[in-house]
Amino acid sequence: MSDAGRTLPRNDPRQYDDLAGEWWRPDGAFAMLHWLAEARAALVPPASRPGALLVDLGCGAGLLAPHLAGKGYRHVGVDLTRSALEQAVAHGVTAVNGDVTAVPLADGCADVVAAGELLEHVPDWRRAVAEACRLLRPGGLLVLDTLNDTALSRLLAVRIAERLPTVPRGIHDPRLFVDARALVAECARHGVDLRLRGVRPGMPGLVGWLVRRMRAAGRPGATPDDRPDATPGDRPGATPGDRRTATAAGPTPRIVPTWSTAVLYQGRGTRSG
Ligand SMILES: C[S@@+](CC[C@H](N)C(=O)[O-])C[C@H]1O[C@@H](n2cnc3c(N)ncnc32)[C@H](O)[C@@H]1O
Repeated sequence: MSDAGRTLPRNDPRQYDDLAGEWWRPDGAFAMLHWLAEARAALVPPASRPGALLVDLGCGAGLLAPHLAGKGYRHVGVDLTRSALEQAVAHGVTAVNGDVTAVPLADGCADVVAAGELLEHVPDWRRAVAEACRLLRPGGLLVLDTLNDTALSRLLAVRIAERLPTVPRGIHDPRLFVDARALVAECARHGVDLRLRGVRPGMPGLVGWLVRRMRAAGRPGATPDDRPDATPGDRPGATPGDRRTATAAGPTPRIVPTWSTAVLYQGRGTRSG
């Protein structure tokens, strides 16, 4: 089901068209993607050479872009969803409309490959991992985050999160969640030594954000434009700082490390020579 009212199967990519207006709302339906993009970008070092290329698989509307500013990468984004790519372009991303399981880019072209909140949406995630590793040059860096294939993950990320205004209903198909050990093994098969750590939203920020979301949703006659996040922080080229201060009612939650990879986890690994 998408928030536009039509009923779509779980994980149907057309949901991203129905939710196209949500991508750049810091307190909107995709808010958590902004927090995760900031945390993912923190794993990416400044480019080691002029013209270094970062390939952002499943880039969506380019939420990673502002967090890479000043790091010196050309940012190429690959995604199935044209309505999202149009927004990514407006934020400086070079768009490639395509499937991450068959990326029309050369072997070894990328200094960094990012796959943020992607693999849990791809029925053949192993194929997407093979493509990510193929694109990396020797010594290149893979950074990703995804949801683990555990009962706890299905409970928190689907059954609970979809009842709260944290993730859009039906956006995940829990059958596609990615077993952490299988992911590490698959990356190793393709020459990438992936290290994992569990992550979660920091509690004080998350609770404050949930309260703001629920208040905005419950206000009589509230429309999407009434929300506290419809601000200059949404404009193309806005900096993370713009967005942080744009959320007038409170600070943006941060993603913090946690001891367990059982729900949400980040991976970082270098491709062997
Ligand atoms: C949850 S969003 C994450 C977007 C972005 N990485 C971020 O973190 O903001 C998942 C994105 O993956 C894209 N996607 C899903 N399956 C895909 C596939 N097989 N090939 C390319 N893009 C895909 C969707 O269109 C959507 O934009």
